[in-house]
Amino acid sequence: MCGIVAALAARNVQGILLEGLKRLEYRGYDSAGMAVLENGVLERQRANGKVAALEEKLDQHALEGSIGIAHTRWATHGKPSEVNAHPHLAGGRVAIVHNGIIENFEPLKRELEADGVVFESETDTEVVAHLIDRAFAASHDLLAAVQSVLARIDGAYALAVMHADAPREIVGARKGSPLVVGAGIGENFLASDTLALLQVTDRFVYLQEGDVVRLSDAQGIEIFAGGEPAEREVHTFEHGDGAASRGEYRHFMLKEIHEQPSVIAATLAGRLSGSHVLESSFGVGARALFERVRQVHIIACGTSYHAGMVARYWLEKLAGIPTTVEVASEYRYREVVVPEDTLFVTLSQSGETADTLAALRYATSREANGARGYLATLAICNVPGSSLTRESDLSLMTQAGPEIGVASTKAFTTQLVALMLLTLSLRGTRGDERETALVQALRGLPALLEQALEMDGPIAELSEAFAEKHHALFLGRGTQFPIALEGALKLKEISYIHAEAYPAGELKHGPLALVDADMPVIAVAPNDELLEKLKSNLQEVRARGGELFVFADESVALTAADNLRVLHVPAVDEYLAPIVYTLPLQLLSYHVAVLKGTDVDQPRNLAKSVTVE
Ligand code: F6R
Repeated sequence: MCGIVAALAARNVQGILLEGLKRLEYRGYDSAGMAVLENGVLERQRANGKVAALEEKLDQHALEGSIGIAHTRWATHGKPSEVNAHPHLAGGRVAIVHNGIIENFEPLKRELEADGVVFESETDTEVVAHLIDRAFAASHDLLAAVQSVLARIDGAYALAVMHADAPREIVGARKGSPLVVGAGIGENFLASDTLALLQVTDRFVYLQEGDVVRLSDAQGIEIFAGGEPAEREVHTFEHGDGAASRGEYRHFMLKEIHEQPSVIAATLAGRLSGSHVLESSFGVGARALFERVRQVHIIACGTSYHAGMVARYWLEKLAGIPTTVEVASEYRYREVVVPEDTLFVTLSQSGETADTLAALRYATSREANGARGYLATLAICNVPGSSLTRESDLSLMTQAGPEIGVASTKAFTTQLVALMLLTLSLRGTRGDERETALVQALRGLPALLEQALEMDGPIAELSEAFAEKHHALFLGRGTQFPIALEGALKLKEISYIHAEAYPAGELKHGPLALVDADMPVIAVAPNDELLEKLKSNLQEVRARGGELFVFADESVALTAADNLRVLHVPAVDEYLAPIVYTLPLQLLSYHVAVLKGTDVDQPRNLAKSVTVE
């Protein structure tokens, strides 16, 4: 989705803004632009298409200025085009970049048009630029002008504004879309994502909903909440700037797949004692609260939803806690019955997904809950300071580090680890034999994942069988059914091959009709209690001439034959098998996509963080 970078410095900021935009490319966008202000003159460059197109224009006509704003746009109002690209100007004095949607822009636009304003673009953002221009003409104070306009607009936004007559100020605001302040030495920045600014600082202030910020030479960083000055903590980013580069890897996705052993170790670090999970990892008071939990509702989208589906098996089997899992976009518009003592859990890599955030707000609203409501809300999230973590009672941060590839990989497996920690914490049988064994198995997980990554070569070879296919079917049973769903999602996202997943036992109820020599069938077969049942389902496929690819536990006696290829996966505790079996499926999608020559890290039509509904 859209990206914002803004800088107020004592040096030329074109390079910083351009580098920031490049670092935001992974979020998905269709045009880019930049404006700088020097000696009271605003200058702007915009380009349709990639940031490289903007860079070419800047090569021909560089922008010189020590204060500037820049943007990557993902079209909502008005088609992708140079004219609709941000920054938008008003009166040649105001420049604005905006993420989000202004819902009441139409009446505001009509009002301005009636007053003689001529619009250049089809965007909702340009309306805000003109409103600020008018408000500034009255107050000659950029902060006051922005604040007065924010009071008139409905919708979601993160924005950054400059005015030619306030030449050493940038005003930013956030409501519904993320915005962080980067604190430098004698220079300060704004961005929609910390990654954009790691080139210049590692100190960040995560703005809260409704915050307005002013960057100026005179006062540095000033934050206002409800019009009053507000204090916000400065956080140091701990993952280093390496997260923003591919290093030796051809794609971010491949790098992120290979990071899984280390980020899972980081997600476990400090959260396990000798034989049990430290419930305090979920926040102050978590232990006492967990003792009261009788039900769990899990809400998420996409890949995070699949993690929730695995957790349902764990929570019901290991902790005996009735659990429901639902996609956020459905939950938020449904009448929800909340049983007593229910814990509401959201899962989100970004912590800013619009549907998940709306579901959390709905869950905590009176309409959804009547008099009773949820016992508490818990967010499992990968981005510190994100809206979801701030608005939840408890949170557990996964330690995946920034995930740049649009297709989620390490965020998913660290979510699974976090959910196993939650399951063990909710069992209420601290340090019993089962917990001790699982804690042991968790400690061994990074090494096991290293072994699973050694399957990379054979999987790359296997992927050749898929490159010409148009469809694929994934099968799994039990906790492997959500893993099959996740495998299918990865394949469609990055290789554009249509893929579906079924619980293997469901095959004969319809999808078996699809099976023929052109439909590769991928099955995940760990050595668990459903293995024999799965094997029978696989026979059903073979009997119909289907081509089978099975990822099976090394102890499973399955011999390769015509139309049956078997790849062995390291032996793993049955509860942790979903985590280990995810890796070969990620690698398979990756290699198929590479063979097909698609844009692996930025697949078409997709954005990394879906901050609009
Ligand atoms: C798929 C993928 C998406 C996200 C979904 C939720 O690879 O990345 O399906 O999982 O958009 O995003 P978060 O977890 O940020 O809420």
